[in-house]
Amino acid sequence: MSWIAAGRGGGDGITPLLSASSSLSVRLRYLFLIATVFGGSYIIISLSNYTNISFLENEVQFGISGSSIDIHQNLETYNERFTIRTKGCSIPALHPYDESIKKFVKFPRGIKQCPNTNKALLNNNRTHIWVLHENKQHYNISDERIFSCCYRAFFRPSAVEDIESPRIDNRVQYKDCVYFDNYIKVSDEFVRVSCNFDSIEVYQQFFLFAPHKEFVSHGTDEWATSKGDKQAYNVIIMGIDAVSRLNFHRTMPKTLQFLKTRGAVELLGYNKVGDNTFPNLMPLLLGIKDTELRTTCFPSEKSTFDNCPFVWEWFKQSGYYTALVEDSSSIGSFNYFKNGFGHTPTDYYIHTFIHEAEKYSGKIKDFNSYLCMNEKYFFQVLLDYIENLTLALKSSKLFGFFWEITMSHDYLNYPMVMDTSYELLLNRLDASKYLHETILVLLSDHGIRWGEIRSTKQGRLEERLPFVYILTPHSFREKYSAAYNNLKLNSRRLTTPFDLHETLNDLVDLKNIENENIIFRGENIYATKRGISLFLPVPDNRTCEMAGIDDHWCTCHRGKKLSTNSSEALEAAAHLVRELNLMLYVHTQCAKLSLAELVDITEMEVGTPREKEIGWREFMVTVRTLPGNGIFEATLRQTSSDWMLAGTISRLNLYGKQSQCIHNYQLKLYCYCK
Ligand SMILES: *[C@@H]1O[C@H](CO)[C@@H](O)[C@H](O)[C@H]1NC(C)=O
Ligand SMILES: *[C@@H]1O[C@H](CO)[C@@H](O)[C@H](O)[C@H]1NC(C)=O
Ligand SMILES: *[C@@H]1O[C@H](CO)[C@@H](O)[C@H](O)[C@H]1NC(C)=O
Ligand SMILES: *[C@@H]1O[C@H](CO)[C@@H](O)[C@H](O)[C@H]1NC(C)=O
Ligand SMILES: *[C@@H]1O[C@H](CO)[C@@H](O)[C@H](O)[C@H]1NC(C)=O
Repeated sequence: MSWIAAGRGGGDGITPLLSASSSLSVRLRYLFLIATVFGGSYIIISLSNYTNISFLENEVQFGISGSSIDIHQNLETYNERFTIRTKGCSIPALHPYDESIKKFVKFPRGIKQCPNTNKALLNNNRTHIWVLHENKQHYNISDERIFSCCYRAFFRPSAVEDIESPRIDNRVQYKDCVYFDNYIKVSDEFVRVSCNFDSIEVYQQFFLFAPHKEFVSHGTDEWATSKGDKQAYNVIIMGIDAVSRLNFHRTMPKTLQFLKTRGAVELLGYNKVGDNTFPNLMPLLLGIKDTELRTTCFPSEKSTFDNCPFVWEWFKQSGYYTALVEDSSSIGSFNYFKNGFGHTPTDYYIHTFIHEAEKYSGKIKDFNSYLCMNEKYFFQVLLDYIENLTLALKSSKLFGFFWEITMSHDYLNYPMVMDTSYELLLNRLDASKYLHETILVLLSDHGIRWGEIRSTKQGRLEERLPFVYILTPHSFREKYSAAYNNLKLNSRRLTTPFDLHETLNDLVDLKNIENENIIFRGENIYATKRGISLFLPVPDNRTCEMAGIDDHWCTCHRGKKLSTNSSEALEAAAHLVRELNLMLYVHTQCAKLSLAELVDITEMEVGTPREKEIGWREFMVTVRTLPGNGIFEATLRQTSSDWMLAGTISRLNLYGKQSQCIHNYQLKLYCYCK
């Protein structure tokens, strides 16, 4: 993978702790350089102009700047300078270990272990719970006769009177104790076990089971019964809250590696559409903005979500089992300052379980959430459940929405703790061949929203660019090749949760994405539609506005053309020429280049300028040099202390025979043979 080439120079000896006066001298040095290349004609530049942006001219959407130069020509350098680069949206290149970010990345050594790890008094498999007699010593259990455990199943009672009660979703009913002192056979979904020694409770734990339930069809459609004949894939969505694309790369490298080797498609231009979880999940699960809920299915804050047509309803009607699973109840997506569901939304719904487990066995409250259910991490409860549920429903189809919150929600580096567990789970799903019949979507809702990293420009961009991976089985890639090819294409298009919603819609009935239908639909695409299925070609000219992304969240560069005689322009052009010459320096057969014309300079801005930001400014500069009239384009970053090249330098016109004397493919672009 290639990343931004940091400024090679360093020859300036500029330290990051620049004082005003040294920065002035640096600037003057550039001016001197410029003076020579411009033949002295621009040497008089008012330094006060340096910070004055009044010369910024008309705002243009980058990429359609009207220049005759085809900026898409140099595809080989595209990876390095842009995350995505389309007609409608360019997102700057970001390096996961950018200088401004590096210092925030470290393993969270301070994270507390769950209490009594390795000292659990009980263990379980899919059918039994038993006492770990060897661990009794840790609880001072000395006498067998006065030791016993109480197995209590609990459940979500169905009949409810007061649908408006804020506690509606937390309702619970416990069954009577069944006592055991060695092991017990399990026949319930949710179980709480407490163990007493000498009439004192010494241990308590919650157990979550994934029984095979009888299929209850919703409504009266004929599809449900005919599912058996139809081709269908399980659809498994695994969310990890608050993880940007690059933070996923940094903190979960093993999981990333798994996805990469299996050929998962990564959405590089996936832009969030709202601040936190809720306004990003509603577009994904309902296809509407949170602000549109009021007029649709969620009339007031006191409402429950029962009347909202979530995606799982479609799958249900199409004969799928459904699951809605989060590892937190207190800050659950539907329960944090909201009333959740009155009815039970899906076949498998564990809110009741998590609520009780948090209440009685929640341990290590770290900022917003309990990390542990006694000796077990809540995220691990979730992962085990995914595995067990997929096993239980192996011969049926499952649509599952599984959302992890507890570990990742508040801290940039905590996802590191989960990496191995996610990798293990995915490996097991792979080994059991479950992934052969499954579309797996691994994603987040946004990046980390607070902490020091947010005051860097990259942190601000990362917050708006969550990760998304879509893993499809080989049979899918073959049979639905047109759809799959579009998905790959869209990896580098501007995309949103609204698109994912449409994508899920397409998976309900695979007829939608058969090749001939994809071709037909692709040709008739309605470019300004807010959500476009990722199985169709998302238009290259899509802008944030077309995609329903508010300016504030938009990570697309907006180009503001600068005057070519602005001080930024002169500095940037000089730096560009200097970088060219630095590369050519040792190749004495190449002529030293000088600036002949500053063709174009555009400042790349991201989102609204309202938000104060620390970090770099970025300029796209096009110059013509002599000898040879080469036209070069590059992105240059101006940090507080220096100019540097972001990525490589593109050549926009042909070099023909000019560089015969050199054989390095990169330098061929730049060298003018003497
Ligand atoms: C679960 O554990 C019980 C008791 O140890 C054992 O009899 C049973 O075979 C185990 N079941 C599975 C599926 O491993
Ligand atoms: C669920 O899966 C995990 C991991 O395989 C296993 O250890 C656990 O016993 C299972 N739990 C239940 C309740 O089936
Ligand atoms: C067990 O007994 C020891 C010694 O009396 C005591 O220090 C310890 O706290 C007890 N542990 C528990 C879990 O009660
Ligand atoms: C975007 O491209 C589509 C074709 O993909 C075209 O129909 C539409 O007019 C273009 N829109 C703009 C604003 O350029
Ligand atoms: C840039 O050049 C134009 C004429 O081409 C002139 O009007 C303008 O004042 C110059 N701006 C600066 C900052 O020198």
